[in-house]
Amino acid sequence: MTNRALNFHSLKTLTAKEALFFFDEVLQLKDSFKKYRTFLKYYKPGQEKLVSLIFLESSTRTRFSFETAIARLGHKSISFSSKEGTSLDKGETLVDTLETLLAMQPDAFVIRYGLSKKLDDHLAQVTVPWVNAGSGVEAHPTQALLDAFTIYEKYKSFENIKLVFVGDVMHSRVAMSNLQLLSQLGVELAVCGPRALLPQSEAWKEVKAFERLTEALSWADVCMGLRIQKERHEPQTMSFLEEYKSDYCLNNQNLKSLKSDGLVLHPGPFVPFEDLDPEVLTDARCKVRAQVENGVYVRAVILANLLGMERAQ
Ligand code: CP
Repeated sequence: MTNRALNFHSLKTLTAKEALFFFDEVLQLKDSFKKYRTFLKYYKPGQEKLVSLIFLESSTRTRFSFETAIARLGHKSISFSSKEGTSLDKGETLVDTLETLLAMQPDAFVIRYGLSKKLDDHLAQVTVPWVNAGSGVEAHPTQALLDAFTIYEKYKSFENIKLVFVGDVMHSRVAMSNLQLLSQLGVELAVCGPRALLPQSEAWKEVKAFERLTEALSWADVCMGLRIQKERHEPQTMSFLEEYKSDYCLNNQNLKSLKSDGLVLHPGPFVPFEDLDPEVLTDARCKVRAQVENGVYVRAVILANLLGMERAQ
């Protein structure tokens, strides 16, 4: 992969060739880990590096998978995981907080943040290597990479694959990064949900839309459920919620419409009986836990490249 593609701020410019090259490296790292239970058979152990994890929004899987990947690569991380208990509480700005953490000379950092034009502009000037762990409603590149890798693991190719996003596509940074990546890879995309949750922006103009869930599931090979991003909605616009649960929550009954060799994905977290009935986790087509596992390998490959680790084999 070229250095240009190692900018994991967004996937806007990642080509299909670069993505496939990346997935091949992830696959090799995963195979090696399954055999040896370490990443240090695949990458040469090197000088210990320090990575700062700056999470200005809540996270379980993204934050802990980065931490796991860093530890398994033989490096150290320090973590900033909420506003509470930090000087953000005293009125320090996000930009000053970032610069304070960078003054401690980490070798790289990983950042999750909400909508902030000032922080966006500032990050564009930062010279320390960094990875976007989710920004506003715009991008979640490492999630899209692990989603696409999970599809690739099953089908070995993206040819003739159709994927439908179900739910709050409008507020989903996961869907936005997947749109950028999966379109490059030739996946045919669709969205399904009540009109209030479907995206209206130019980026989605060419994407097919379904209102009926069973129709969408019959069309698709891969179904990706999405959580309703309540934190990004005005409470008064949530009147659709009860109807949503009965019409769009993925369950074993409506998933009968999906192909027997289809895939059910969800980036998580899911809200039981709202966007996903937990019974779906027992469906062999459901790879929600595999996505979490793959997140560690995907993020390890990104960090190993970012930190200049050499391959051992
Ligand atoms: N998918 C995802 O970003 O999950 P977390 O918010 O738990 O990191």
